[in-house]
Amino acid sequence: MKPIPVHFPLSLFLLLAAANSAAAGGGGWDLLQRSIGVSAMHMQLLHNDRVIIFDRTDFGRSNLSLPDGKCRNDPNEKVLKIDCTAHSAEYDLATNTFRPLMILTDSWCSSGTVAPDGRLIQTGGWNDGDRAVRTFVPCNDGSCDWSEDPQGLAARRWYATNQILPDGRAIIVGGRKQFNFEFHPKPNPSDLTTFPLPFLQATKDDVEDNLYPFVHLNIDGNLFIFANNRAILLDYTKNAVVRTYPEMPGGDPRNYPSSGSSVLLPLKPSATEAEVLVCGGAPMGSYTSAREDNYMQALKTCGRIKITDQSPSWSMETMPTPRVMGDMILLPSGEVLLLNGAAAGTAGWELGHEPVLTPVLYRPESMAGSRFQVQNPATIPRLYHSSAILIRDGRVLVGGSNPHVYYNFTGVDFPTELSLEAFSPEYLSSENSNSRPKIDISASPISLNYGKQFSMRFAVGAISGGGVTVTMAAPAFSTHSFSMNQRLLILETGTALSGDNSSYEVTAVAPASGVLAPSGYYLVFVVNGGIPSEGVWAHIK
Ligand SMILES: *[C@@H]1O[C@H](CO)[C@@H](O)[C@H](O)[C@H]1NC(C)=O
Ligand SMILES: *[C@@H]1O[C@H](CO)[C@@H](O)[C@H](O)[C@H]1NC(C)=O
Ligand SMILES: *[C@@H]1O[C@H](CO)[C@@H](O)[C@H](O)[C@H]1NC(C)=O
Repeated sequence: MKPIPVHFPLSLFLLLAAANSAAAGGGGWDLLQRSIGVSAMHMQLLHNDRVIIFDRTDFGRSNLSLPDGKCRNDPNEKVLKIDCTAHSAEYDLATNTFRPLMILTDSWCSSGTVAPDGRLIQTGGWNDGDRAVRTFVPCNDGSCDWSEDPQGLAARRWYATNQILPDGRAIIVGGRKQFNFEFHPKPNPSDLTTFPLPFLQATKDDVEDNLYPFVHLNIDGNLFIFANNRAILLDYTKNAVVRTYPEMPGGDPRNYPSSGSSVLLPLKPSATEAEVLVCGGAPMGSYTSAREDNYMQALKTCGRIKITDQSPSWSMETMPTPRVMGDMILLPSGEVLLLNGAAAGTAGWELGHEPVLTPVLYRPESMAGSRFQVQNPATIPRLYHSSAILIRDGRVLVGGSNPHVYYNFTGVDFPTELSLEAFSPEYLSSENSNSRPKIDISASPISLNYGKQFSMRFAVGAISGGGVTVTMAAPAFSTHSFSMNQRLLILETGTALSGDNSSYEVTAVAPASGVLAPSGYYLVFVVNGGIPSEGVWAHIK
């Protein structure tokens, strides 16, 4: 796993890569499970290092039986009224084991948020699940399971996006034929108010390229909402659009089914500005064309914009490869990893072609033109209905891919994937072991208070010239190429002071408010010259 030099010319690199694919860039892949029995359409890491995974109840039989011979008997179900297989699983990272969970209503193309107390609150879906609110309270003894309120939402939410708010509620934005938003929990459960959002109507084109909008909580408390090819800044407390961003150059759609992806770039200490990056997608007309068996090349561009600017504009950048249905993951080092997806076609049944197996690293702090770095390729295509999340040890968990209406393992180009893999970024390579900090804590999660200083003890072989920083990542809800609630904060960090036995101590200041970091569980990392430690769980309030 030898990193390619930072300024290695890409064309030359691609030539070499073509000549010898083993000579590609950094990072490496591990197959964790060949099959967990369920395809990871949706994934969320919880603060006990368990990952909650689910797809949909109307996929037909999965490859995982429900526990204790249980069956689901659902007269509303479209495919199997009686189904004794699971459509959700809990995966335990520490032991690399999984167990089936029982989801009752249809969670297809739904959304989620982790509440400040660590419960997964998961919303919407299709059919009998389109207004459901499902709650999963984490446990360490294998006893917990979903509980569901099939009428918890005011409106049907299929392909909606959730964002955790500074007051701990979730806002749920859009969904198919829903040009509005709502909140959860509600002051009164019988209050079925929704708030109109004409922007979603205005960005709906003939193929509805405005689904799963990219929603980011800005540092001024407003919401950045991107749909199709443009964005607004919304004061959700007054339902007022406070800024309209220019259309992204090119005008091509970036949201489902022309799925690109997006992140709020890492927030700097005491941030006064915030930037959003949107990468990939499909050219206008691609979906319609793919339905006629003509798979157009995916978009090769990213747009980056300072969302805090009064008169912002997009800076366009070109990726090494075109990508639709990619995932974008904020790494603890402050870099962005792009992986999964296809180079042609769009999201939707059977519509993605030419899997892109190579992840690409994007370094936001490098000069424009030298920010992308191609990584070592995967072997398993991850197309429609795949997902990816950061896990505590700094790896990225990758799963799913099922572009078919059912589970299909044979006679198709891209079989239903039940496997889980981990991508280890280059920072985890053994060449970096001397620089890798090891946090020394007596108990986790640690408690953080807004704006308060805290200290972290750690051991490391050598402090790097690049210096030590402390970063904090919010575990995201990943589905359909977007990671809801994903956030990385670079904290104000003191100088690392050395103690005994190559141990060090560093102080950092917790984010100032719930606008910068909504209350809840985060992963805290000590990063030494770009090499992160394993994370430790922290709770901020
Ligand atoms: C899932 O089950 C089917 C039917 O029993 C079997 O053919 C297939 O190999 C299994 N796939 C995986 C990945 O376990
Ligand atoms: C997938 O499997 C189902 C049920 O076995 C079958 O009806 C369908 O034709 C298959 N789809 C494809 C794309 O092969
Ligand atoms: C340093 O190492 C020595 C010998 O292993 C041990 O006795 C001592 O407690 C260590 N000190 C600290 C601060 O960990």
